[in-house]
Amino acid sequence: MSLRVTLLLAFAYALLIVLIALELPLALNLSNRVEAEVRAESATQVALVATSAAGELDRPAELRELVEEAAEGLGGRVIATDAEGIVVADSAGRGLEGADYSGRPEIAQALRGENAQGRRESASLGEELLFTAAPVLERGQVAGAVRATQSVAAVDREIREDILVLVAVGVVALLFGVGVAWLLAGFLTRPLQSLAGAARRVAEGDLGARAPVAGSREQRDVAEAFNEMATRLEAVLTAQREFVANASHQLRTPLTGLRLRLEAAEGLARDEELHAELAAAGREVDRLAALLRNLLVLAREGEERPEPRPVELAEEVAEALARWEAEAQAEGIALAARDEGVPVALASATDVGIALDNLLENAIKYSPRGSTVTVEWGERGRYAYVAVADEGPGLAPGEEAAATERFFRGSAGAGTQGSGLGLAIVRALAQRWGGELVLENHEGGGLRAEVRLPARGAEAGGDAGFANSLPGRR
Ligand SMILES: Nc1ncnc2c1ncn2[C@@H]1O[C@H](COP(=O)(O)OP(=O)(O)OP(=O)(O)O)[C@@H](O)[C@H]1O
Ligand SMILES: [Mg+2]
Repeated sequence: MSLRVTLLLAFAYALLIVLIALELPLALNLSNRVEAEVRAESATQVALVATSAAGELDRPAELRELVEEAAEGLGGRVIATDAEGIVVADSAGRGLEGADYSGRPEIAQALRGENAQGRRESASLGEELLFTAAPVLERGQVAGAVRATQSVAAVDREIREDILVLVAVGVVALLFGVGVAWLLAGFLTRPLQSLAGAARRVAEGDLGARAPVAGSREQRDVAEAFNEMATRLEAVLTAQREFVANASHQLRTPLTGLRLRLEAAEGLARDEELHAELAAAGREVDRLAALLRNLLVLAREGEERPEPRPVELAEEVAEALARWEAEAQAEGIALAARDEGVPVALASATDVGIALDNLLENAIKYSPRGSTVTVEWGERGRYAYVAVADEGPGLAPGEEAAATERFFRGSAGAGTQGSGLGLAIVRALAQRWGGELVLENHEGGGLRAEVRLPARGAEAGGDAGFANSLPGRR
């Protein structure tokens, strides 16, 4: 889960708890308050009617007016009875005048001189009622009773509506809070994302990449620390690379001089044995020169790569074959080419040439006389490949992974001269362009080394798209 979503959920959770903690007591309080208010209002009205009815009990017309007015104010029904509980006025009409209500508990209570209030199920209406009754007192004697009844449904509806308003306010507050949290989380995570982007670019070899110093103080601290580290890393790596490059370069001139002098001495040597020794020394110098060349290539690894250019693999193969023709002939090895289309890779022609040289050198060096070395090229999905297959011993079991390590020399290399850098170089060059080196012993015996590079036309997906399209990648 992303940091932004986590922050958002945490914030929403806290907000929800706060809203519940605030709104639940409020809602409970609200329903109590509404009920209490309704009850108080009824009690006041009933008391008012009871007081006004004193002395009016035998004047039904005035009494009726009184109860109708009160009923309208309360939104319910108001009746007045005489001392026997006989209805003398009814706001609901004249139909029930003369009926005996003394059996109603609240009327009975009022006739005993007490006020009564409560809820009860109305037998006649089939719904819950709020009743309020009070005695009508004339000269200290109970002369009658007044009772108001209201439907509780209206009160409950009002409470429900108020609670709904509360819930709606809560939901709006929650949405607003979550919206603000989303922006806030974005503000927190954006600098982290750009930091991760910069770190990734540095890891990919763009040593000049720096994180933007933005956000909170802590985030700026992290970005500054990262940038400082990247600057130092860049300086160290550049110095190291320059040192290797300079050392290799500086050594080349004396080596060339040494080679020339050895050749001259070889020409002058009259002694057979001395001649042979000088020739051997010359070969050692050649080896040293090859090693320096390899080191120079590897020193370039991790450098920011130049823009990839379209490379016609067939052309590079033809040139490489021409370079190695004589060597192969001397070793008694036939060179063959198997053309599978006209693949164009996105890389650099120099790198493809160096990779081919190393693979051909291995194939010729490690194959027996009389065998054939075949170079194949083609296009498969998003990548273009060029492969060198030989009929030699192939890699011993377990050597596949180690073969591309620097300075690794395997069982086939035993007894021959080499630095163990060849395959490491090929791999580094392939990876530099977003490709890879795949080593596989093929069925007929011998090794097949395949360099895969992004094909032209695959650039839309970028390096990641290409890397994902390689077999064996998820
Ligand atoms: N075509 C091949 N057939 C069999 N084994 C091979 C082949 N190519 C490479 N190897 C094995 O992999 C090892 C590493 O090869 P790599 O090219 O990296 O170094 P090298 O050939 O030993 O030295 P150099 O730096 O001179 O190329 C070799 O020593 C050899 O054991
Ligand atoms: Mg080699």
